[in-house]
This record gives sequence, structure tokens and C-alpha cells, in this order.
Amino acid sequence: MTLSFEKFRDKASRKVNIDLSSYKMKRVKRRINSLMDKHNIADYDQCLNELKTNSKFKKAFLNHFTINTSEFFRNPKNFKFLQEKIFPELLAEKRKIKIWSAPCSDGSEPYTLAIILNELNINPNRFEIQATDVDRQIIQKAKKGVYNHNSVKKVEPKILNKYFSEEDDKYILDPKIKHQVRFKHHNLLTDNYGSQWDLILCRNVFIYFTKEIKDEVTQKLTNALRKDGYLFLGNTEYLLQPDSFGLEKEYASFYKRKT
Ligand SMILES: C[S@@+](CC[C@H](N)C(=O)[O-])C[C@H]1O[C@@H](n2cnc3c(N)ncnc32)[C@H](O)[C@@H]1O
Repeated sequence: MTLSFEKFRDKASRKVNIDLSSYKMKRVKRRINSLMDKHNIADYDQCLNELKTNSKFKKAFLNHFTINTSEFFRNPKNFKFLQEKIFPELLAEKRKIKIWSAPCSDGSEPYTLAIILNELNINPNRFEIQATDVDRQIIQKAKKGVYNHNSVKKVEPKILNKYFSEEDDKYILDPKIKHQVRFKHHNLLTDNYGSQWDLILCRNVFIYFTKEIKDEVTQKLTNALRKDGYLFLGNTEYLLQPDSFGLEKEYASFYKRKT
């Protein structure tokens, strides 16, 4: 008898170490079916077998899942607000601020933070930027700091010239900025969140999670902030009832921890 999708999903979750039931079911199913078509895999039993025996397929399966789209200064208005309002406020309150970009994908997001802090002339010993993702491959790419034009298309020419060098159509990030971000592997569904963060960015991952998981992760992120710390979400990921998590809306996608 062939495996049902639900059974397959549970077994596959254990194989790839990510709980696929936390992700929106329709989307997961669509992506898995399209990957199976591409690899001429007839059913879920065969797919599970490929996951067990074929490491290349396992990689492709995971890649298919962890959608890594990102870019520098994604949603520029929000980064402007960060530069003009949030960072000055946090830096006026504390000598050293703790920032977490989760998930960070190819590093465009946490490096954007470092660039902004450099533009504000903030000494690097006054901030710590931790960047995490569940996808180990994308973290390796992030550490390299080499990008194509698409990743930097929202970067102002002045900033592009100042922090990148161009080589064979690639944009190479200034090593000074690279050294200001600490990357590590982290699964938002299972790993510890730490505490006393001044600012957490959790952008463009909620769209993949079920409502229950989104709420659970939002609560854990809020708990990991210090009082008056900020949660910065993706443009389309606003919270309908921020106060139910102990947050209040500050501006656009920014929420402040109240207590
Ligand atoms: C679309 S990118 C968002 C990157 C960046 N925050 C941005 O907005 O440009 C989504 C990222 O979420 C990561 N991801 C998916 N599930 C995750 C999980 N359970 N824990 C941590 N990261 C996860 C993927 O690997 C991917 O890099």
C-alpha cells in the first residue's frame, strides 16, 4: 500500500530534521509533488526511499523547502525607520545592543544592519549581530559575502560603492562588514531563543508556517526580547492582536515588547 501524504510528511520530517507539519500543508504538498515530478519519482514510498539513500536528493528536497529569497535593504522604508528611529533609541538606552536576524538566509539582511550601523558611525564594540538559519548551505553562502546584481538592486549607489567591490558581475562585500556578523545554525521550531535581545528580525518565514506555529514562534520571540525591545517582521506579516503576545505596534512591521 502506498503511503498517505500525512504519513510520508511525518517520516520525511524525521529524515530531514525539520517538522514539516509546522509548514502550510498545501504549499508543502505542492512543492514536494513538483520535486517528485522533476526527479521522476512515482509515489511517496519511493520519495522516502530516495531521502534515505540518495544524499543529493535529500539536499534538493531541503533546498526546495527552505526558500532563500532575500536582498539587501528589503523593504527600504522599514530600514530607514530602523536607521532614523530604532537604532538611535536603542543606542541611547544601552552601551551595547544585541540584535538577532532569524532567519538570515544568504546574509543580505544582517549585513544590511551592519551597513546601517556603520553609516551611523557606531563603533562595532557597541553592537552584536547574530544571524541564524536552518539551512546550513545558505549560511555557508552568507559567510562568503558575494552577491549578484539582484541582491543589491535596492542598495543606493553611494552605499554600493562604499561597501562592495565589483568583480565579474559579482558584488563582494567589504570584509569589515562581514566580520561584524556572527552566523550560526538555528531551527526556529526546536532550538533555544536566548534572552534579552534588543532587536529581533523575523522576516518572511511566517508565511510558510501554520497559524499555530506562527503564534508559538511569535510568543517565543517576544519572550526572548528585553522589555522595550523591538520585533521587526516582514512587510506582509503584521500581527492582528499584538497585545495578546505582550507587544504593541510601533510602526509598520515594528512591534515593541511592553512588559
Ligand atoms: C525567504 S527567506 C527570508 C530571509 C530574510 N529574513 C529576508 O526577509 O529577506 C526564509 C528563510 O527561512 C529559513 N527557514 C525556514 N524554516 C526555518 C526554520 N524552521 N528555522 C529557521 N529558519 C528557517 C529558510 O532557510 C530561508 O532562508
